[in-house]
Amino acid sequence: MPLVAPSILAADFSRLGDEVRKVTAAGADYIHIDVMDGCFVPNITIGPSMVRSLRPYSRLPFIAHLMITHPERHVKAFAESGSDIIEVHVEAEQETVKGTLRQVHDLGKKVGLAVNPATPVERVFQHLRDIDFLLVMSVNPGFGGQKFMPEVLPKIGVAKAEMERQGLKVPVEIDGGINLETGEPSAIAGADILAAGTSVFKAPDMQAAISALKACGSSKH
Ligand code: DX5
Ligand code: ZN
Repeated sequence: MPLVAPSILAADFSRLGDEVRKVTAAGADYIHIDVMDGCFVPNITIGPSMVRSLRPYSRLPFIAHLMITHPERHVKAFAESGSDIIEVHVEAEQETVKGTLRQVHDLGKKVGLAVNPATPVERVFQHLRDIDFLLVMSVNPGFGGQKFMPEVLPKIGVAKAEMERQGLKVPVEIDGGINLETGEPSAIAGADILAAGTSVFKAPDMQAAISALKACGSSKH
């Protein structure tokens, strides 16, 4: 039974506080906050001050998904703004990935490492011991509402086998184009957390959408 992390990129940006409160009441497990700098990805969204403003609207853990270059320069601001989990991309230009991961832990926060569709999942094997979450992107980062890329699914099994080999248990979050139809194979492939934007925030019934996502992978085949 996967957990659900609604991605607020798909929410009404003119009422983000209310949207965060609403999706919290609708049964979300995390709030997934997409941070984009227009350099690492071609879109620009929000920064630490928005996280700080949203903090009082939900007691759920905030995931700051940093799609930015040099995340090590901004991790402190996101930690201090109220993020509980900070996810950085293995592909992002930065001093060292190891250094960024350590910095997040030194700030007392949990850290996730994100891997884009084109990046072999083996790229993160050396970091598995140092992370709390693995984020497998099922779209090229930058925008919501994109088409799910099923070819990334085998990465979950490969990563979990490597975790087993290293004696680790790192939850895997999948992010991009997640809805009922794509959530099912993702959960079956082993995803522990489904990050979903459009399919939650554009749903006529948010609560029903979230509980349906949570049921992914449970129907016997
Ligand atoms: C894409 C973001 C995703 C995206 C998910 O760069 O990281 O979190 O907002 O939105 P949907 O579910 O609409 O693909
Ligand atoms: Zn995201």
